[in-house]
Amino acid sequence: MSALRGNNGPRYRHVVDEAAPFETITIDKLTPIIGAVIGGVDLSGPPPNHQMDEIHRALAENSVIFFRDQHLTQEQHLSFGRNFGSLHLHPAAPHAAGHPELMIIHADKDSPRANGEGWHSDVSCDPEPPMGSILYIKQCPPHGGDTLFASMYAAYEALSGPMKQYLDGMAAVHDGEEAYRGTYKNAGITDKPTYPRAEHPVIRTHPVTGRKALYVNRGFTKRLVGVPRDEGAAILSYLYNHAENPLFQCRFRWQENSVAFWDNRCVQHRAMWDYWPHTRSGFRVTVAGDKPV
Ligand code: SIN
Repeated sequence: MSALRGNNGPRYRHVVDEAAPFETITIDKLTPIIGAVIGGVDLSGPPPNHQMDEIHRALAENSVIFFRDQHLTQEQHLSFGRNFGSLHLHPAAPHAAGHPELMIIHADKDSPRANGEGWHSDVSCDPEPPMGSILYIKQCPPHGGDTLFASMYAAYEALSGPMKQYLDGMAAVHDGEEAYRGTYKNAGITDKPTYPRAEHPVIRTHPVTGRKALYVNRGFTKRLVGVPRDEGAAILSYLYNHAENPLFQCRFRWQENSVAFWDNRCVQHRAMWDYWPHTRSGFRVTVAGDKPV
């Protein structure tokens, strides 16, 4: 029996709101919980105001949104990102020439690694981690290279009452040292003297939706604050396994010229490097965020 199955149907029940219809975009949901492909939008120019409002709403309702057949210059990709706030500079990764806000996402037959191979929320080690990430993939392998996304709202909501109480008000340390030191050597990047490190609440409240989300991830979270290390390690291990339940996930199959925009405040993601020796390539624009509360 699944850990999330009760005696009478699933223990985790996602309540689907009957959302108001959209007027300027189409929505094709990947799952009831997370992910939707948005149609009727050309990201190369500034979307009209009402359409921009609807894109914001689609992101809030689906946590990660996707756009197909987009043809963007680097400047247009950056401009789209700026509609959502100032842009975040990655503390370690290589970027496009002349554009420090445009992170290179690339793996080919000579790569020692690919970006984002483990579950994580982008740069959660920053004191003010990014609000969202906008990945534009220009070159795809013939098969594979999907990205998995998991709703941390669903992960939080499916926790037991006693576990929610235990975690309420607890903080965790997130650290970029292990994730970043030496990681980009093959791209000619020399290590920084230090990498970001921050304490964040284990359960955060999303500033737009007001919903609670689990905010610990295997990539960056190192320990829980205020409990013995072995206890914290056991709880974190439970939370990581819980958060990775496929029930909370969607999986996006890329095509060339697709864009994914995920909300790091309520989503973790993981990229599949199952396409070696083929090439997958694109750029990521990351929108700055605020201190989790
Ligand atoms: C990342 O931004 O973590 C990489 C995601 C991907 O390449 O799909």
